[in-house]
Amino acid sequence: MSHYVIAIDGPAASGKSSVAKVLADRLGLVYVNSGAMYRAMAWAALERGIDPGDAAGVCEMMGRIAIDCGREGSASTIAVDGYNPAAHLTEDRVNASVSAIASIPEVRERLVAEQRAYLEHSDIVMEGRDIGSVVFPDTPFKFYLSARPEVRSGRRRAQGQDDAIEERDRQDSTRASSPLVIPEGATVIDTSELDIDGVAEAIVAKLREGGIAA
Ligand code: CDP
Repeated sequence: MSHYVIAIDGPAASGKSSVAKVLADRLGLVYVNSGAMYRAMAWAALERGIDPGDAAGVCEMMGRIAIDCGREGSASTIAVDGYNPAAHLTEDRVNASVSAIASIPEVRERLVAEQRAYLEHSDIVMEGRDIGSVVFPDTPFKFYLSARPEVRSGRRRAQGQDDAIEERDRQDSTRASSPLVIPEGATVIDTSELDIDGVAEAIVAKLREGGIAA
């Protein structure tokens, strides 16, 4: 039986994670947070004293560590050498270095393979920067969430995080390897004035048009 994937892309704090979780609950999907995988690699490098901008050092590290992508309940998990770093993934130092790690093509290649593997076992909703453009370009269910920059910075501040999202967005949009783009055929939703349920509702309406019993 073949599975389907809902791809949700967009810049930082555009509401992707919250909406993806609501959709996963509502439709019985596995929620895959691809950003957590890049964050886990940034955390692993920092823990080992490797400069996230040192591509050769990061690649060498990735050859040495065990990376296990799995799931707990209906959400994806990642462990590095048997340890789940979930509690560390939104630390300021990870926010500040994840875009550098994510610009390394070998890192992307490895993590994209892990991301694609989730679809072999279940229907999924995956959020990130390149899900509709690179990871699953053939899915008919692509969404791009955006929001005004001041709304997005306000959301991050409300979460108590020091996160230079404009700088992260600049790096993510201008890198050579799989930059953040609006994927071809994606439905664009401006979430500035919408709450999470409002965004989920807009996506569900589109899925129904595509024949998903949502
Ligand atoms: O939650 P937020 O949107 O702030 O970020 P995230 O989804 O956790 O992603 C963190 C970082 O990982 C992004 O700024 C990108 O540099 C990178 N990323 C990526 O390059 N490709 C993805 N599919 C997902 C995340």
